[in-house]
Amino acid sequence: MLIDMHANVTVAEHPLVQHKLTLMRQTDTSISLFRQLLREISLLLAYEVTRDLETREVVIETPLETMSARQLEGKKLCLVSILRAGNGLLDGMLDLMPLARVAHIGLYRDPQTLVPVEYYFKTPEDMAARDVIVVDPMLATGNSAIAAVHRIKQTGAERIKFVCLLAAPEGIDAFTAAHPDVPVHTAAIDRQLNDHGYILPGLGDAGDRMYGTK
Ligand code: URA
Repeated sequence: MLIDMHANVTVAEHPLVQHKLTLMRQTDTSISLFRQLLREISLLLAYEVTRDLETREVVIETPLETMSARQLEGKKLCLVSILRAGNGLLDGMLDLMPLARVAHIGLYRDPQTLVPVEYYFKTPEDMAARDVIVVDPMLATGNSAIAAVHRIKQTGAERIKFVCLLAAPEGIDAFTAAHPDVPVHTAAIDRQLNDHGYILPGLGDAGDRMYGTK
């Protein structure tokens, strides 16, 4: 784990994460392998982002004796997927947190302006009571993530984290300026954005690579 110079940004430097990410970046990685790797990395990112979940001591019986052991305090969780690529991170996270509720935000980037346009928004009712983890593989311009977190805050949610696979420095700057209270977890911070808002060197369009739509 490496803390970026931005106080609120954590880069998952774990060798397994980096190895899997390297495979995902490569053009000749198949759709099925890309999806599998994304699911595996999301499990590892979920492990990092849930590090500070509260636990409490409970008394249990092992086959040999009574002991006091830790279990999750049981605070409510909500995972928020920014459609459509967010679903790739969501699946692995749900493997690890099967009781979490799930919200979806549909945003697409206007190809000319790169401004996010909302077409879907559905969350559980009690968002204010939940720890919220927003997921989207690519933090590029940051526009979609900023808009999504803004909408989530309107539901009353206060404890929010953002998890992505790859980030551009421009996206990190924009996101942390807009939401300084929201920690960011990523597997890597790449060099820059190109003129079309794609991350360089990046991995291409995450949604297309997950679903084979290009
Ligand atoms: N979205 C993607 O899928 N890839 C990028 O590089 C940027 C945004």
